[in-house]
Amino acid sequence: MRNRKKKNGENRLINLSSLLITRDELSGLPSSVGFADGAPVRLEIGCGKGEFITGLARREPCFGYIAIERVPDVALLALEKYAGSRGLGKLGDHGEWIRPDGTALKGDRWDIPLELAGNVRFYIGKAEEFLDEVSPDTFEGIYLNFSDPWSKKGYASRRLTYPSYLKKYASLLNVSGKIYVKTDNDGLFDFTLESLDSEGWKVEFMTRDLHSPSVSEQIRSSNVMTEYEKKFTEQGIPIKYLIASPPTE
Ligand SMILES: C[S@@+](CC[C@H](N)C(=O)[O-])C[C@H]1O[C@@H](n2cnc3c(N)ncnc32)[C@H](O)[C@@H]1O
Repeated sequence: MRNRKKKNGENRLINLSSLLITRDELSGLPSSVGFADGAPVRLEIGCGKGEFITGLARREPCFGYIAIERVPDVALLALEKYAGSRGLGKLGDHGEWIRPDGTALKGDRWDIPLELAGNVRFYIGKAEEFLDEVSPDTFEGIYLNFSDPWSKKGYASRRLTYPSYLKKYASLLNVSGKIYVKTDNDGLFDFTLESLDSEGWKVEFMTRDLHSPSVSEQIRSSNVMTEYEKKFTEQGIPIKYLIASPPTE
């Protein structure tokens, strides 16, 4: 994802920083961010500009959601998209955040009340550091949407479906938890299938063309499009998709 520096980015992040998860809060998830203890929580790794997490959180509001994005200026757009979708205000012409009552924030943290903050929180940082801090059995779903393919030789271990990542996901998923992988990239999809097989995961569903009419209506209608998915679909590139569950013992 292109990382063009955002105007007033730092102040804009401070305005909405009560929607962010701090590193200290990771081990206490989900209650440390105000989600009910034991509430089912879903995780998206590499949320980009937040189209998917905002759409899914709205469509299935009985879950808590956490979105990780390592690039602050990209995470900022996700935060603002989500806050806007919750009716928490909008970005002004000069980088200020305009609240629904018309007051403008210019680098002042707004402690958004829990009932307004809703069911999504964001973590800015690398997935690796996040995954190491969170307690086992925290998530009921982990979403990997258009993850970087790391196609060059020697970089396979950076792929988010490399066996070492699958081991972490297996520990962080609860008893009915699953991962959901979408990509345009055949190489990453094939690699993911091999990795899942070598780690003993069960592929519950897979398709190499998610938007084809041959895929069940139930799967297609429950799909929430991501930014990359929209772009690739417009270009006629088929979307690869799978759902897998970790080994049981
Ligand atoms: C290709 S973009 C896809 C964005 C979005 N998921 C979509 O489908 O439109 C991948 C995103 O994942 C983020 N990302 C990649 N590796 C990451 C990691 N290890 N930890 C956190 N974010 C990561 C990148 O910064 C980028 O914004």
